[in-house]
Amino acid sequence: MTTTAPDASAYTFRNADQQGPNQLQILAEILDEHTTDMLVHAGIADGWHCLDVGPGRGTITTWMAQQVGPAGHVTALDLDPRHVIGGDTITIQQGDVRIVDLPDGHYDLIHTRLVLLHLAERLAVLDRLVTALKPGGVLVVSDWDATDRSMLVHAPTPQAAAAFDTFQDGLLAILETNGADVGWARRAPAAVRAAGMVDVETIVHNRLWPGGGAGNLLHVSNSYQLHDALLGAGLRVEELELLREAMQDPQTLAYCYWMFTTIGRRPKR
Ligand SMILES: C[S@@+](CC[C@H](N)C(=O)[O-])C[C@H]1O[C@@H](n2cnc3c(N)ncnc32)[C@H](O)[C@@H]1O
Repeated sequence: MTTTAPDASAYTFRNADQQGPNQLQILAEILDEHTTDMLVHAGIADGWHCLDVGPGRGTITTWMAQQVGPAGHVTALDLDPRHVIGGDTITIQQGDVRIVDLPDGHYDLIHTRLVLLHLAERLAVLDRLVTALKPGGVLVVSDWDATDRSMLVHAPTPQAAAAFDTFQDGLLAILETNGADVGWARRAPAAVRAAGMVDVETIVHNRLWPGGGAGNLLHVSNSYQLHDALLGAGLRVEELELLREAMQDPQTLAYCYWMFTTIGRRPKR
């Protein structure tokens, strides 16, 4: 199924950025254990044909290829798939999920993590993904909800806590300007059901990270990748430096964003 091209993607981050591989590796460290649990729960099995939408670093693509074995196949579709590692049963496809040709009724499993929240066209994309599933196929959609602003449990100083808040304000404003919806993850179950899926369930995941842990290093990486945009959003260089120091200080304790994973099945008929 193809659709007419929307405007060039306003996706906020760049895999080609110097911070790109670091950011994507941090995401894998924070989230892969949860995601693989969810994919097992979704029933991933030998011989399945899978689509990983926006694989980023490709760690989940590789893991899925191991699960489905030589009789199965995984397509990794990304705007910029430069960091995905290929394999005999992996097809790496460069493309925009909003417009790329997707085969109808083809996949046993479609997984997408931290992609739909960024796309203004997320509901249309959801419909496209449902259509690309075989009858009985499974969709696993994971996104962060960033509306809870009580993530920081302990900061080294009140100034560091204030810099964390200002940074989150600036980051979320930039994301939303680019079409992201940082509260969509909580509503995803209703959207997945409205798209015609059945057996819809949602599992919520988080953990507390010390300074220097992946959940906090993510903010350091994002602060470098979006340095200029954050200054444009009103942050000061001193605030960014304070944030980076605090996120690497072992005294710091902060939750990551809440991850909502919604699983649904395309009806058999
Ligand atoms: C935040 S990263 C998440 C990467 C990976 N799924 C993870 O959770 O670690 C978003 C990924 O989606 C890709 N992406 C963004 N917009 C896309 C689009 N319209 N079509 C395909 N891929 C897209 C980006 O290039 C990037 O690799």
